[in-house]
Parts: sequence; structure tokens; C-alpha cells
Amino acid sequence: SIGGELDKLARSVPDPYARKLFISEMQSFLGIYDRYLADRAKEEALDWSKVSPPEEHQIIAYERLPDAGTAALNKLAVLKVNGGLGTSMGMNGAKSALEVQNNLTFLDLIVQQIEHLNTTANTDVPLLLMTSFNTEEDTLRIVKKYANRPVKITTFNQSRYPRLLRDSLLPFAKNVQEGRATWYPPGHGDLYHSLYRSGVLDRLLAQGKEYLFVSNSDNLGAIVDPRILQHMAESQSEFVMEVTSKTKGDIKGGTLINYDGTFRLLESAQVPPQHMEDFDSARRFKVFNTNNLWVNLKALKRVLENDEMKLDIISNPKSLDDGRSVIQLETVAGSAIKHFKNAHGIHVPRSRFLPVKQCSDLLLVKSDLYVLEHGRLIMNENRMFGIPPVIKLSGHFKKIQQFHKRFKQIPHIIELDHLTVSGDVHFGRNIVLRGTVIIIANEGQRLDIPDGCILENRLVSGNLNM
Ligand code: UTP
Repeated sequence: SIGGELDKLARSVPDPYARKLFISEMQSFLGIYDRYLADRAKEEALDWSKVSPPEEHQIIAYERLPDAGTAALNKLAVLKVNGGLGTSMGMNGAKSALEVQNNLTFLDLIVQQIEHLNTTANTDVPLLLMTSFNTEEDTLRIVKKYANRPVKITTFNQSRYPRLLRDSLLPFAKNVQEGRATWYPPGHGDLYHSLYRSGVLDRLLAQGKEYLFVSNSDNLGAIVDPRILQHMAESQSEFVMEVTSKTKGDIKGGTLINYDGTFRLLESAQVPPQHMEDFDSARRFKVFNTNNLWVNLKALKRVLENDEMKLDIISNPKSLDDGRSVIQLETVAGSAIKHFKNAHGIHVPRSRFLPVKQCSDLLLVKSDLYVLEHGRLIMNENRMFGIPPVIKLSGHFKKIQQFHKRFKQIPHIIELDHLTVSGDVHFGRNIVLRGTVIIIANEGQRLDIPDGCILENRLVSGNLNM
């Protein structure tokens, strides 16, 4: 049974104190596990006829928020969720430890953003970083440089749950020391319980903090915005989700809906396949969740202590390197919206959502398309129309090591509209790409784009004859 297996795992923790912590972690795991089994037994699929788009008053246009002063900033704390495995980019540490520009990593830039805020607004907004067993080491290494700077940094670890074999739904870790592949961080929805369990939530409240701004550590567009903060305070809203417009070709993440009288987040993994087209349609569901979230801390404590925080569980199937099929039970932070009073969405400009999910996103933020200003990425003023190019890189660029190997230096792309690269292509230094560029290496052949090469509206395939 699951209980027996978890007991066995607990007995493999040598240190008594660590064992106690492990047991409490496995108790929260069991909570999710039992709820997952109960939901599965009910076979209650989402009833699509009860799904309706948000009403007008539920999503407020950012432009309609009044200008705000900085007074409320002393009640604010900032949290970056930074515990993900980054498997889509083949990472084995923190994505936020990757270098963006000028030898500065995502984490360095986040610290600079808050330092700048604290210095210019003469305030003391603390920075919290949620890490996991996968990202803690990288994170601590980077933030230790900032010990004596005008920003207080706190890190805390999120939970570590056992992956389950798909057929038996039992953990396959036999002891706690066993390799990383047997464990996982259970999604950013874990932040609420981890914040509570670590004591950080109580500490923030004791310091007089009332609001928490949560965002992904790979989203450098998620800057503290005093207008949203003030709106939150004035509207007595306990939870605000920043949403932004879907655009052609990038339909992302979850969307806000009404369901049976509840205002909630719907993730694509929760949508029955036959309704996927409707869900994706930008006509009915115009916006998606940026995962920039504003949470009232007192309300959060109330919801947690009343044991009401029951986030939707998403079962995420994975195939391990050894071919085994496993699932991991995860939750997402935005799904907490249903538990809070006066919760609503704010429709923000796209510039507040600049995520790095794949290496092609990394190429953009590393390129000359953006310039750095106090840790913020600002689009280069020489870029026409202010929208980034569309970049498609084939499987050869999927993993971060391959990406680094294939770009000796990031090309100049200020005038690029569209880039497709397919196959074993290697880029030299000082390359300029303009207009639409398509580069295709023949199967099994390496194609080198030499140093200093300028490609403008070109299709390059097989060999590059300059
Ligand atoms: P992503 O959606 O990019 O997921 O996370 P990921 O886990 O990092 O990458 P994949 O899916 O394995 O490729 C969005 C943000 O949420 C954090 C990530 O660190 C990132 O900042 N996150 C994700 C957590 O903090 N904990 C988790 O368990 C998962």
C-alpha cells in the first residue's frame, strides 16, 4: 500500500529530525494523493457546458488603473518561484542560473530589479526565492554575493514528492537517498504550503507585510508595479492574477473561467480533448495567465489554516530515461484564485510576460533585441514595431548544452522577423540576421555559418555558398 511504502521510505532517513520533517512532507503528499484517487474514482470530467468566459468586471484593463505612489511598497514582499526542473530545456539545475546578458543571470537581474526599487522608492521590499532540491545549490551560490546589499533575500525549499509508477500508483524510490529521477518538486502551487511550513509566512506578517507579488523566476518582465499593488489595496481584493492577450501562434497556459458559479483557472491539461479547440480559441477565451499573482497574506493564512487550500491536481505523465512510465501529481499557483474574496484578473501588456520555456526564448533575451536597465530588459529602441521575431529551432537546439555549443555568440537580430533553423547548424561570431532567414542542414551533415556572415531574407540549405 502507499502507506507502507512511505513508511519504508521514512525509515530510510537516518537523522531523527530530518525523519520528522520527511514524515510531515509525506503527510501533505498523502493529502494530494488521496484527493487524486477520490477524484479519479468519481470520474467527474469537466462539464464543458458549464464553462463560460469571464464577465467584463472580472478582468480589469491595466490602462484603467490610476497612477500610484510608492506608499504601499513597505507592505509588499516579492516571491520568485524557482524550483522547477526545467526538463523542457534539458536542465539539471536552476534555469534562473543561466546567463542572460553581461555575465548576469536571471537571478542577478531579479536582485538588481529589487535593489533599484528599494533605492529609488526608499523602501525595503524583501525578496523570497522558493527553491527545490534541484535548484537550491545554484540559487544559494548566486545570491550569496548579495549579502550586504540593499535587498534582504530569503530562500526556502519547496516540497519533494515521490514520483509514482503509472501502473501501480506506488512510489518506486526505495530509500530517500535514491537518485533525482525518483523525486520531483510538485509544481509552483506548492508555494502556499511551503511558505507556511517554512515559517516564512508568519515572519512576513510579523514584519507588517500584507501583500505578496509572486512570479516565475524566468519571467524578467515581472517587475513590481505600484499601480497593481495600490489597486489591490483599494479594491480589497485578496488575489489578483495578471493575464495577457493570446496572440497568433502562441496560445499559452491556463485561462480564467466561470464554472458553476466559481471564478477559477482552467489549465489546458484539464480540458477534455474534444473541447481543446474551443479552449484555445482567442475569440472565446481572450487571455491567459502570466503567473504574475498578487496575494493578500492575511487572507492566505486564513485559507491555509482553515484547511481550504485544495488546489486542482494535475497528473503529469513522464517517461524516464530507462523507459519507465511515471506520473507526478502537481498543482499550479494560479488555481488558488477560487479560494479568495474579490479575486479578479488584470489585463496587462505583453511586456510583463517574457518567459523562457525553450532555448528559442533564451536566444531572444540574450540577444541585442533587448537592453538592460536596472535589471530590466527593455526592447531596443531600434527595433521597429516593438514585437519580437518568431524563432523556431529544431530538436538539435532543444537542450541547453546543445544550444550553447551551437551558438558561439548570439547573432544580431534587431532586424529579424522570422528565423527557422533545422538540423546540425553551428553559428559563429558576429552574425547578422535580417528579415526572414531559413537555415536547413542536410540530414547527417553539419552546416557552419561563419563569423561575420550577414544573412538577409535568405534560405540556406545544405551548403553555404557565399
Ligand atoms: P515552468 O513552467 O517553466 O516549469 O515553471 P519548469 O518545471 O521550470 O520546467 P519544465 O516544465 O520541467 O520544463 C514556471 C516557473 O515555476 C517554477 C519554475 O522554477 C519557473 O520559475 N516552478 C515550477 C517551481 O518553483 N516549482 C515547481 O515544482 C515547478
